[in-house]
Amino acid sequence: MLTALLVVISAISSYILLYVAIYYIIRIARPLHDYPGPLLNRLTPVPWIIHLWRGTLYSYADALHKQYGPVVRVAPNELSIIDPAAWKDIYVRPRIISGGDFPELPKPDWFFRPNMNLAPNIISADFDTHAHIKRGLAPGFSEKNIREQEPIIRVYIDSLLAQLRKRCGYGAVSVDLVKWFGHATTDIIAGLALGESFNCLQSGEGNDFTRLFNRVVREDIVLAGLRRVGPHFLTTLAYRFFTGHRVKYLDLCRQSLSKRVASGVLRPDLIQSLLNQEEYNFDSVVHTAALIIFAGEETTLSVLCGVVYYLASNPVAMETVLKEVRGAFRSEEEITIASVNKLEYMIACLHETMRIYPPVGAGLPRIVPRGAEVVIAGHVVPGDTNVAIPPYALNHCAEYWVEPDKFIPERWLGVDKRFASDKLHEGLKPFLVGPRGCIGQNLAHVEMRLIMARVLFAFDIELDKSCRNWVTDQTSWVTWARPPLYVRLTRVNQAGK
Ligand code: HEM
Repeated sequence: MLTALLVVISAISSYILLYVAIYYIIRIARPLHDYPGPLLNRLTPVPWIIHLWRGTLYSYADALHKQYGPVVRVAPNELSIIDPAAWKDIYVRPRIISGGDFPELPKPDWFFRPNMNLAPNIISADFDTHAHIKRGLAPGFSEKNIREQEPIIRVYIDSLLAQLRKRCGYGAVSVDLVKWFGHATTDIIAGLALGESFNCLQSGEGNDFTRLFNRVVREDIVLAGLRRVGPHFLTTLAYRFFTGHRVKYLDLCRQSLSKRVASGVLRPDLIQSLLNQEEYNFDSVVHTAALIIFAGEETTLSVLCGVVYYLASNPVAMETVLKEVRGAFRSEEEITIASVNKLEYMIACLHETMRIYPPVGAGLPRIVPRGAEVVIAGHVVPGDTNVAIPPYALNHCAEYWVEPDKFIPERWLGVDKRFASDKLHEGLKPFLVGPRGCIGQNLAHVEMRLIMARVLFAFDIELDKSCRNWVTDQTSWVTWARPPLYVRLTRVNQAGK
């Protein structure tokens, strides 16, 4: 009896072993076998997913590219590519060899919509739904509309400056800029997307929205990893544990928007064009506003904190930018959307920050449809392959940038011949490109330029010793999880008080 049982068990084990061996041999031999990458990554997506979950995908991709070159097989069916020529081929218009005619490489559901039971939003929607949502939103994000929003934005920036002044009095004190810039970007985006701010600046407190949406993003990352390796039901099951934060977050957005619609006030803001449509779906407006708040707050905040950190760590750059800003205006009132555009050096500092510390550091994947074949930066890529450009790795690659790990705003001024070979706008795409590119980039430029010009005009900034290595080993779940950034602010300019 025992012998028979052992025979059955050993037969089942051999069958499983054989199955696993054949499965993995097939995976290695899939059409991507010519692309280099670590053996473990060629066999399984697990190493990639572990880094996704740990928030270290950006530095892992950087290390793999430094070892294996511009195209790396980071998972059995995923290529990571750092080549400026690939921006167009992946994110704008696919160069199809065979397999049909598709207008874009689709976004893979495992990453953008790990739980298929959720309604699609502007980020996760398929091609047609996305085009419909984007058309509805576009008027609110036009340059003209953003200019009309200047008075609303100014109120919040005035409030930021008033709070910083209050905190530093006339002597120098240490303040956490992650906190204060965070309050400003949250209030601005909520004011423009929901019609009311969260009063973070006035109260000096973060609010439930910011806490909740960061939880939701991290939970989505966990779901994305699960969906990548496991069957769909596993994600659906896991989603049951996570659903609370998302529901609360959406409820808060719903409450604010209901108040705004009930008030009947028309505002030239980001959402008005959706509410102006003859028939709009209120729930879909809530989902869109919820997403805009996350997309608009976290990214802009990273750049603002990053530029202060790099300037405060580079005395020559700081001196140059202060000279420019303080020489350009006599009072804070002169600092406007139109006038900040002449601050060439400050704008170069913002570009350089987005290069060295890209707000979205890891790649945003696209998938080649099953059965198709496309060319990406000269490489033939078969169907069912995930492809992405990891911005952090591309922006730190010596092939495309002179001294890539150094903060050198001068490379953007086109004067110093040392940087003639830098890929500049060809390589740097912090807002992505193509139909899915960032709709908020006009607003982002306006916010970042206005806030930086006002802060540099009003304060001398010195980095607190505790923050000397502020960027080192940060984690990133789509956007950075920033530790506090302590700086000492000294009032220098009374003109705009
Ligand atoms: C420095 C600031 C910003 C950066 C670096 C940035 C970056 C990006 C990137 C990389 C995407 C593409 C996402 C994807 O493929 O899934 C994106 C999309 C988007 N961003 Fe931004 N963003 C910034 C600021 C903003 C602001 C201020 C807003 C809104 C007020 C905003 C709203 C959006 C929206 C709605 C999308 C989805 C667009 C679409 O799918 O068509 N972003 N952004």
